[in-house]
Amino acid sequence: MKRVLVTGASGQLGQCIDAIKDNYQNLTFIYASRERLDISNKNEVDLFFKSNTVDWCVNCAAYTAVDRAESDIENAKQVNINAVRNLAEATLENNVRMIHVSTDFVFDGKHNKAYKEDAETNPLGVYGQTKLDGEKELATINPKHFIIRTSWLYSEFNSNFMRTMLRLSQDRDELNVVCDQIGTPTYAKDLADALLQIISQDSSAYGIYHYSNEGVASWYDFAKAIFEINANHMKVNPIDSSSFPTPAQRPHFSVLDKTKIKKTFNLEIPYWKDSLKIAISNL
Ligand SMILES: NC(=O)c1ccc[n+]([C@@H]2O[C@H](COP(=O)([O-])OP(=O)(O)OC[C@H]3O[C@@H](n4cnc5c(N)ncnc54)[C@H](OP(=O)(O)O)[C@@H]3O)[C@@H](O)[C@H]2O)c1
Repeated sequence: MKRVLVTGASGQLGQCIDAIKDNYQNLTFIYASRERLDISNKNEVDLFFKSNTVDWCVNCAAYTAVDRAESDIENAKQVNINAVRNLAEATLENNVRMIHVSTDFVFDGKHNKAYKEDAETNPLGVYGQTKLDGEKELATINPKHFIIRTSWLYSEFNSNFMRTMLRLSQDRDELNVVCDQIGTPTYAKDLADALLQIISQDSSAYGIYHYSNEGVASWYDFAKAIFEINANHMKVNPIDSSSFPTPAQRPHFSVLDKTKIKKTFNLEIPYWKDSLKIAISNL
């Protein structure tokens, strides 16, 4: 039986791991939300690993407020870089394998074909830069690491694009949504499943991997699909990012190439709309 520590357990991905845990009877879980383990506190992290037996650590904790990070740089660094260093050191010290989740925002979006793991990184904002720096900390400190970059996470838990669209549909009948940012929506439960499959396989194929659902969409396509599946008659207007300025710049194209993760772990990845139907039916 492998013991898996889930940090940031009350976040969206952490809750998705908990929701599918029964499919993995070979694993036992220790869920640590920020209240139980603040990963930015080095002493707390060291003590936690000394007092608990852990085989794998899945870091679901992050500073994920992309726009706020532009003006809250120190806090973003604290969680996305320094705290990852704390976990990397503690996992190395205790011979724990670490899975760390990162983002498509490490890329600048100037490609026109799906990004492979070794594509040049060039984050456009503080969030992407801190996530990239966190990846580097982990990769330098603990060789037993899996860095999984993902994109556009949504689920029935916490705040995310799908839930925001459905909430807005309760008191509006028309919405403007950007159509010039292209990527792939990813159901966080599918990602959770991929992470637990890696652990179940007891893999030592360490390195960087890309995981999203299959297919390609703009935020406009994503919104349209949410309302179609939910049988909601919302009028959705496509707009350019320039008409919807945000503090953080986002990549225009961030589709991830998933060949490596599929081959290495023999994974089948669902098409994004199929997963969206499941997520909406689970609401
Ligand atoms: N959401 C997306 O669209 C997306 C896209 C690409 C990649 N990712 C990556 O995917 C991963 C999971 O994202 P998510 O959507 O599940 O994020 P989330 O819902 O924002 O969850 C992040 C969790 O981390 C916790 N946390 C923050 N600082 C902490 C600390 N110092 N110690 C312990 N816990 C702390 C947060 O707790 P509080 O609630 O108390 O702050 C929150 O529960 C992250 O690494 C993110 O960068 C997300």
